[in-house]
Amino acid sequence: MPTSQKIWAIFTLALAWEAWSCLGSAVTFVFGDSLTEVGNNNYLQYSLARSDFPWYGVDYENGKATGRFTNGRTIGDIISAKMGIPPPPPFLSLAPDDDALLQGVNYASGGAGILNETGLYFIQRLSFDDQINYFNKTRQAIKGKIGEAATAALCNKAIYFIGIGSNDYVNNFLQPFLPDGQQYSHDEFLELLINTLDKQLTQLHMLGARRIVFHGLGPLGCIPSQRVKSTMGSCLKKVNQWVLQFNARVQKLMTTLNGRLPMAKFVFADTYQDVLDLIENADTYGFKVSNSSCCNVDTEVGGLCLPNSKLCKNRHEFVFWDAFHPTDAANQVLADKLFSNLFASAPAPH
Ligand SMILES: *[C@@H]1O[C@H](CO)[C@@H](O)[C@H](O)[C@H]1NC(C)=O
Ligand SMILES: *[C@@H]1O[C@H](CO)[C@@H](O)[C@H](O)[C@H]1NC(C)=O
Ligand SMILES: *[C@@H]1O[C@H](CO)[C@@H](O)[C@H](O)[C@H]1NC(C)=O
Repeated sequence: MPTSQKIWAIFTLALAWEAWSCLGSAVTFVFGDSLTEVGNNNYLQYSLARSDFPWYGVDYENGKATGRFTNGRTIGDIISAKMGIPPPPPFLSLAPDDDALLQGVNYASGGAGILNETGLYFIQRLSFDDQINYFNKTRQAIKGKIGEAATAALCNKAIYFIGIGSNDYVNNFLQPFLPDGQQYSHDEFLELLINTLDKQLTQLHMLGARRIVFHGLGPLGCIPSQRVKSTMGSCLKKVNQWVLQFNARVQKLMTTLNGRLPMAKFVFADTYQDVLDLIENADTYGFKVSNSSCCNVDTEVGGLCLPNSKLCKNRHEFVFWDAFHPTDAANQVLADKLFSNLFASAPAPH
């Protein structure tokens, strides 16, 4: 292994060790889109990005449609269980001065992106800026309960999981009828995304965030909603190349921020290859189908699983649940890999 790589490996291990050491008492704040949402959009009356109806949640506790965009658990649910904590509740389900705020909050919202204009045809969703503003509100509410010093300590110790950017492609740049895709080349669009993300992460740091895990994008060119645009039903290579460029730039941004912001420990969690491997070698993971979804969705209109949609027979045999989102079974595989990449090299908890 070359020296620079070795140093990087040790550095990553040290971060994992640090993250692990606070897992026992981990307060977590989650930001993101439909891949991590646990029900905020249920509280947005006019939002079209919702999943509070069957068959969503058919394999969740009591078969309940909670606003998770899958048949069962999200990757975040599975990671929370591994950390021994309940999944943080949706911000909009809590009262402004709820004691639950002290235990961690989920701000994720289906349809949300880095850019404000992303997902605008869903009418209502919490953009990443909205989510950060709500975290600021949370911080002020916590300060009202335990004072500034304890609040600063809580925010510094907490873990922040961020997974955002998919919608900036799927529900913005890749939509031919929206202005961003016409107005910008991909290089210009990527520059806009990274500059915006830089400001947003800096703002989170100002609010006390230090231990931040940014979950990179998966191979969006291979999700059912994109495959149908290819005559052979194959992955869209250009989309996957753009995603790889985005991931590389975010990873570079993490390094820049770790150098620029005091005490910052940004970690880039790259699952692109793991997701691609699951799709390309589905059978080795016990899956049978990875090129279409279990729920027989209309990819032309919405791509979500509606109450009158037909489901596949064996949901654990499909990697995708609807045109965008993995099944519970796929999330289990991906969460196991993500968790061991982030934490496995650290000592066991006590
Ligand atoms: C996006 O919206 C937020 C409020 O939700 C606002 O503070 C911010 O300035 C907006 N950003 C841009 C670039 O318009
Ligand atoms: C947090 O909210 C307060 C009050 O609205 C505002 O003054 C402050 O600038 C915000 N801080 C950040 C980092 O967004
Ligand atoms: C998925 O792959 C299978 C096996 O390779 C093929 O028969 C089927 O037509 C593909 N389905 C779609 C929607 O591309």
